[in-house]
Amino acid sequence: MGSLRDILDRSELFSGLGPESVARIAACLRPVVFEAGTCVCREGEAGDTMYVIVAGRVSVLSDMGWGQREIDRKEPGEVCGEMALISDEVRSATVRAVERTECLSLGKADFESLLDQDPAMAQSIAKLMTKRLSALVHQTSHELLGAYRALTFAIADLAESRDPETGAHLERTRNYCVLLAERLSHSPRYKDAIPKSFIEGIYRVSPLHDVGKVAVADAVLLKPGRLTPEEFETMKTHTTAGAGAFKKVLQQSDSELFRMAYRICLHHHERWDGLGYPQGLAGEAIPLEARIMALADVYDALLSKRVYKPPMTPETTREEIRKAAGTQFDPYIAGIFLENIAQFEEIHAKFEGD
Ligand SMILES: [Fe+2]
Ligand SMILES: [Fe+2]
Repeated sequence: MGSLRDILDRSELFSGLGPESVARIAACLRPVVFEAGTCVCREGEAGDTMYVIVAGRVSVLSDMGWGQREIDRKEPGEVCGEMALISDEVRSATVRAVERTECLSLGKADFESLLDQDPAMAQSIAKLMTKRLSALVHQTSHELLGAYRALTFAIADLAESRDPETGAHLERTRNYCVLLAERLSHSPRYKDAIPKSFIEGIYRVSPLHDVGKVAVADAVLLKPGRLTPEEFETMKTHTTAGAGAFKKVLQQSDSELFRMAYRICLHHHERWDGLGYPQGLAGEAIPLEARIMALADVYDALLSKRVYKPPMTPETTREEIRKAAGTQFDPYIAGIFLENIAQFEEIHAKFEGD
């Protein structure tokens, strides 16, 4: 089975302990036997004991939501349940003896008195756990963020395949949004209201502003000419359809990023004067990210060629934005936009395409 020191070295909690600490632990271990089929510990229950397996074999089982599955087997020389010694959380898995299994057990009370007598052991365990915990947090958040980014990109990509607006439009509008949010974050009015997470968020979710168009019939969505009033009413539902999808997402996973996606989908056609849709919100009642998105979206549409219109010149586009400040657009945001117009025109030139 190997020496106790070798066994402890392979455990999550005790690796790297000195010989004196190992001897102290050895003195506290108590023999215990589990007959075949009996539970060493049960998932979801409180636990206060660690086991070193001396002879026999145990199966580690976890409830995956669709039934209990074996996730590991442990043999002589292995340790199980050691986290119960340092955590008040319930057991994360069930351990069952596959055959008659002899163990040595260490209880939480004995472990705590060991720590009192042996500050070097306490320190070593604390260091080890901090290192493991921060590695775990780092890995988990890295994986989650990567999965989230890939997923939002896939959704935008899917929506784009049905939308006559192009990928270049999405790339340009996301860059206008970021630039505008950055400039606003340095402006007197918004310098405390736009954190870095807002700018990162608008970069991630602004390409999803028209995702609800997947719910609009082709006859309306792809119609080359002018829409009839009824068709326009149908077209307007892309705002509520997109928001509806994110509302469902939010019921399962509440995050500020998805809340931002919801607000952008729902409100990017609202107007400062209250004459927009779907809710006819006016002024600052329209969420900030939607006021930014509205300007970025219309600016790009004006400057770009569409099946129903040639592109406007940069001069005419500037004039249109100026005229619409205070009616269609937030006048403060439009002012910051016009102050930085050269950089918006650069973005348009950089991501050429219709
Ligand atoms: Fe839209
Ligand atoms: Fe758009």
